[in-house]
Amino acid sequence: MVSSSAFAQQNEAQDMPPLKEAFKGKFLIGTALSYLTLQGKEAPSEAIARTHFNAFTAENSMKPGSLQKTEGQFNFTEADRLVEMAEQSGATPIGHVLVWHEQTPAWFFTEADGKPANREAALARMRTHIATVVGRYKGRVKEWDVVNEAISDAPDEWLRPSPWLKSIGEEFIAEAFRAAHAADPNAILIYNDYNIERSYKRPKAVRLLKSLLDQKVPIHAVGIQGHWRLDTPNFAEVEESITQFGALGLKVMVTELDIGVLPTKYQGADIAAREALTPAINPYTEALPDDVAQRHAERYRQAFEMFLRHQDVIGRVTLWGVHDGSSWLNNFPVRGRTDYPLLFDREGRPKPAFFAVAKAAAGR
Ligand code: XIL
Repeated sequence: MVSSSAFAQQNEAQDMPPLKEAFKGKFLIGTALSYLTLQGKEAPSEAIARTHFNAFTAENSMKPGSLQKTEGQFNFTEADRLVEMAEQSGATPIGHVLVWHEQTPAWFFTEADGKPANREAALARMRTHIATVVGRYKGRVKEWDVVNEAISDAPDEWLRPSPWLKSIGEEFIAEAFRAAHAADPNAILIYNDYNIERSYKRPKAVRLLKSLLDQKVPIHAVGIQGHWRLDTPNFAEVEESITQFGALGLKVMVTELDIGVLPTKYQGADIAAREALTPAINPYTEALPDDVAQRHAERYRQAFEMFLRHQDVIGRVTLWGVHDGSSWLNNFPVRGRTDYPLLFDREGRPKPAFFAVAKAAAGR
């Protein structure tokens, strides 16, 4: 049933410019497109993306596991579609992601006998992947998430002990950026991670970014994923991080923004994290109560007012998905919940959060 308030909002939406108009001259406003959307099976999501957003990221289709499941056999069908769809819509195609420890087949860093690959072999595979993928979209994909989530969450550890770190050593990061830059010297190259905007992880990020800059590694921006919740993180901490990253001379991109409303113990975005489903942690299976929707909208308003205050360093803000029904948070870190993290509801209607963001853009 369509409630009268949803109906009123629809009418109000007709008086609002598309988000991409509202943010013109400030920063790009993007969205992530699912497998289904890129396969042409999600027409409503595609329509919303084309209307409101001017930067498109593939939610999964450009990850190593999608592009090169088997060594030497590339599948670019959906990735090509992302780039074409963006170009047709006048949106900027964004590349996500070249080097990550998740959604990356084990062959990259394992030998046929199951032993870890030696350094030269792993490096060669990484370079070939980057040269092939970045080279294919040279001049078209304008920004690349080159390395994702290399920083550790553990208190006494700087870098995550990933298979990349173990096989190549910490130079895997610099080498990935060099390879991407060689393949497309004009692309904006991003280091992307979750929770680096929080104070426990920020110093590690600053250390990494400074070290790359000191070594003259071609890195141009830092990506704050932005998988946030109603109560965390504290935006004063986030604002301080934006300032510190900007002071390094880097652009700041918010690459995967969503604001989940469900109770969750786990505070990060490590896709391997899992919690068990219980009714107590899935309270809004029918609908989102109005007071929660208002708090959610208020959080989005505060977030975008902060981004606008820093529009000199922020190049792009991308939402991680188009509407609530397709959000990954329905399955993370608990499978099978009903979350409400985005700007459009399951019917594709703009939510209070949409109006809060649109009003922030208009300075109202
Ligand atoms: C997520 C996708 O949204 C899911 O569909 C997939 O099952 C797992 O990955 N950080 C990232 C993104 O960099 O690539 C992740 O995307 C979310 C966390």
